[in-house]
Amino acid sequence: MIPKQTVDLILETARIEEVVGDFVSLKKRGVNMLGLCPFHSEKTPSFTVSPAKGIYKCFGCGKAGDAVRFVMEHESFTYPEALRYLAEKYRIEIEEEQPSPEQLQKQDEKESLFVMYSFAQKFYSDYLFNTEEGKAIGLSYFNERGFNESIIQKFQLGYAPDSWDALTQAVYTNSFNKQIYEKSGLAIVKEAQSESSAPRVYDRFRARVIFPIHNLTGRVIAFGARQLHNDPKSPKYINSPETDIYYKSKSLYGISFARKAILQNDECFLVEGYTDVISLHQAGVENVVASSGTSLTHEQIRLIARFTKNITILYDGDMAGIKASLRGIDLILEEGLNVRIVLFPDGDDPDSFARKTGTVQLKEYIKNNARDFIAFKTGLLLEEVSNDPIRKAGLIKDIVESISKIPDAILRSMYVKQCSEQMQVTEQVLIFEMNKIRMNLYKKQSDEDAGELTDKLMEMQFIPQQTETAEMNAWHQEKEIIRLLLNYGDLIVNLPGEEQQSVSVREFIHNELTPDGYGFDDEIFAGIFSHFVAQNATEFVTMLKTDTSSELEKLRDIALEMMVSKYELNDWESRGIHVKKEEDNLNETVINPIYHLKLRRALMLKQKNSKRLKDNPQLTDEEMDEVLTTQKNYEAFIQAISKYLGIVTLE
Ligand code: CTP
Ligand code: MN
Repeated sequence: MIPKQTVDLILETARIEEVVGDFVSLKKRGVNMLGLCPFHSEKTPSFTVSPAKGIYKCFGCGKAGDAVRFVMEHESFTYPEALRYLAEKYRIEIEEEQPSPEQLQKQDEKESLFVMYSFAQKFYSDYLFNTEEGKAIGLSYFNERGFNESIIQKFQLGYAPDSWDALTQAVYTNSFNKQIYEKSGLAIVKEAQSESSAPRVYDRFRARVIFPIHNLTGRVIAFGARQLHNDPKSPKYINSPETDIYYKSKSLYGISFARKAILQNDECFLVEGYTDVISLHQAGVENVVASSGTSLTHEQIRLIARFTKNITILYDGDMAGIKASLRGIDLILEEGLNVRIVLFPDGDDPDSFARKTGTVQLKEYIKNNARDFIAFKTGLLLEEVSNDPIRKAGLIKDIVESISKIPDAILRSMYVKQCSEQMQVTEQVLIFEMNKIRMNLYKKQSDEDAGELTDKLMEMQFIPQQTETAEMNAWHQEKEIIRLLLNYGDLIVNLPGEEQQSVSVREFIHNELTPDGYGFDDEIFAGIFSHFVAQNATEFVTMLKTDTSSELEKLRDIALEMMVSKYELNDWESRGIHVKKEEDNLNETVINPIYHLKLRRALMLKQKNSKRLKDNPQLTDEEMDEVLTTQKNYEAFIQAISKYLGIVTLE
């Protein structure tokens, strides 16, 4: 039990921005602070913290509360657990009795597991420092590796003795719940041979050095255990199995020690193993975590993303390291984060490199060798492929594949530009490749949702309609007109007819649509239209990229996507390498869709008009006259425009 005064003291002391700030990177916004919500996945921050009121609220998912509530939600703590956590954070002492073994047994299983793992950690550390075997084998191993005493203490390293049941006996002596121990993964349980004989329970970790794995709040949730004799018959590392407190794919080795430094540096280094994390810490580089044992997962990246958007991969420069980097790159890009890569000279990992060179050189090396993913991929292959067009094409595809994973359209187009410069290929070629990949991606999802597929395809590339009917999907036409407006608004088009007038595409579209009172059905297109008809392309793009008002937010991605997707797939494919530019025949490119749109509108109006006739048999002569005249006008217009377009209209 926590005494009431202590509870009050904790509640008074805990500052919401500090409590939340340990998990979420917050930026000041007026009197409040803003960050990415840790409770749901989002790309633009809607998680608000009010230091004055002592509360948080997410405008995306609705989660809200005070400091205690936050810790409970975030760490899945009970109320007393949350209070204890805060008490520890603010160094408020809670005077309470040590729980008895009976109380321990009654606590829920999760808490018991935490307690058991904490006990085991102390047992292994104690063995390392205070026994002959521990000192002679474990400690000397760590010393040989160059770990100093304070780093061994900090990471709570330990030694599991060469014994079948040293830990098991200690656990039993301390009256822990046997069932929970058997489920904890600390022991291996051999099924009973016969019903009368008890199951044989023995220590999982034996004659190994121990690396405790901690959760975000610093509690031990698992162990990694390294062998000491390079025995090829047994695995180099044995790791805890998953339990109620340990999910491999969600944990990152070192995260509790790194979290502050990641926030401060706004960057997280990602390494492969336990020893890399520890060595870098010893060298004074603390913003580092390892995915240790499993290949990197989306959940692990999301965990990092709570603290920074910038991940730098530090791997061994051997084949395995390169392969792992390549996998990591795409995963990180997919999560919308920035990725850079540093490879260490072949044969060195961050651990051995840090030991060889020391802090200053290590930091220098990272600074000088960090490359973005394009430079990294290019560097890997360019030398050998520069004279081989087929392999160069393969490399380009590979890079574009990575770019296509980035969810943000602006970032994508920036990388396309960079890749175009570095690889000396035109942006169009890259955009074309990217569209192909993205289209395939969407096609894969199409089994789940065919409707969505069409939308996505249309977002990328306009696909011309073949027939004209009054029912035709106006959306596609609107989309095409917006696309032309965005891409060619500033170019000049020569109007058909005797006068040979020349106007800008923007003026043309404006003149054709506005007098008709044409309103775009699609809200986004209407928005783009109203903003764009008034300014030139450069101004519009600048506005899109700098104005962060919510109205533009909605338009931005779509507008930029459409500006990037300039080139028609079909033209490309039929012509091989040469891109037929739409600019080459602006008349056809721009005038046709506008006329199609007007045609569709006229067909609809004509239909509506003749319906007036059918629906009202009692029209006066005058009214009848008016309907018929209007009908004739529409027909004349439809005929003229169809003739220009060279199509037969269906009714
Ligand atoms: N690993 C594992 N099981 C193995 C080998 C490796 O779980 N059989 C994980 C460990 O988390 C390890 C990481 O992969 O830390 C990287 O492997 P490696 O570089 O071989 O290990 P190091 O920790 O660097 O160990 P050392 O430098 O002592 O060889
Ligand atoms: Mn190593």
